[in-house]
Amino acid sequence: METVVSGIRPTGNLHLGNYFGAMKNFLKMQQENNCYFFIADYHSLTTHPTPADLHGSVKQVLAEYLACGLDPEIATIYLQSDVPEVTELYLLLNMNAYIGELERTTSFKDKVRKQPENVNAGLLTYPVLMAADIIIHNAAKVPVGKDQEQNLEMARKFARRFNNIYKVDYFREPQPYNFGEALIKIPGLDGTGKMGKSEGNGIFLVDNEKQIKKKVMRAVTDSGPTEMNAEMPEPIQNLFTLMNVVSEQSTIDFFKEKYAKCEIRYGDLKKQLAEDINMFVAPIREKINDIKANDDYLRKVAKEGAEKARESAIKTVKEVREIIGFKPF
Ligand code: TYM
Repeated sequence: METVVSGIRPTGNLHLGNYFGAMKNFLKMQQENNCYFFIADYHSLTTHPTPADLHGSVKQVLAEYLACGLDPEIATIYLQSDVPEVTELYLLLNMNAYIGELERTTSFKDKVRKQPENVNAGLLTYPVLMAADIIIHNAAKVPVGKDQEQNLEMARKFARRFNNIYKVDYFREPQPYNFGEALIKIPGLDGTGKMGKSEGNGIFLVDNEKQIKKKVMRAVTDSGPTEMNAEMPEPIQNLFTLMNVVSEQSTIDFFKEKYAKCEIRYGDLKKQLAEDINMFVAPIREKINDIKANDDYLRKVAKEGAEKARESAIKTVKEVREIIGFKPF
């Protein structure tokens, strides 16, 4: 059994990108591994949520995790902020993280460009906190989407560097848990880029049939292929990428053939895609609302999860402190 760690920032409802990037095959994953799934609420502070928004989003993501099939009896589900040992490990790892390498990470450079008014130190050291989240349980595998590839690479680097500095073989280098496939990027419906929480291009697990249909029907397309077997432009490829994760293979083949023969009608493709997405999210959507209404259950899950996660975290931090040389007199 391998240890798997997975985190999601609570900054709104979960979307199909989160699901297929990090949560696909939850059931299998939790049965075959020792899973720690947490809500990265410290990480979400980089965008300065209000206290009410923070609490609301944490509750939402917790309910969504559970609705997707995470079983608190098998996996450990917790809030990052309930495990203070993470912040100690973060501090210790920060001593070996260099400003230059942090400034060069793509996600940091992106944030500097997108929110120049709020380039805080938490953003710069974001990959260090993420490394702490992962190696605090000495995880072997981390399910992430393509967008987190670099952060995971940095986690490996910090783990390796710690081992090198202290001449120990203590931390494992965490690898992506990619279900035997390449890391996935679920595109948004706006033609380019990835589906994101704040990009306004996402389909959420809580979206109802009408909302899904409206979003899909509005997705960017073009005027259609004019040559047989033409290569697909990005917005069209994106629709097929979404189909790949929610539709039957025969449906995908049918529309691919229509495209190749220049007979495709995007309206039909979108209608089918919307239906398939709805089929996929409907059972999850129903469960989210039920679970969210049950505060006692959520409280119990978070409390028990925190206890289990702390057990593992306390052990790691104790050993790390010893390796570093903190010793009682
Ligand atoms: P976050 O909250 O942005 O996303 C959570 C997970 O969803 C994946 N994801 C996607 N995958 C494919 N296509 C997309 N369009 C898409 N959008 C999001 C992300 O890759 C991620 O796996 N830094 C992390 C949270 C985190 C974490 C960790 C993850 C903090 N500590 C430790 C794993 C381990 C983040 O912001 O993810």
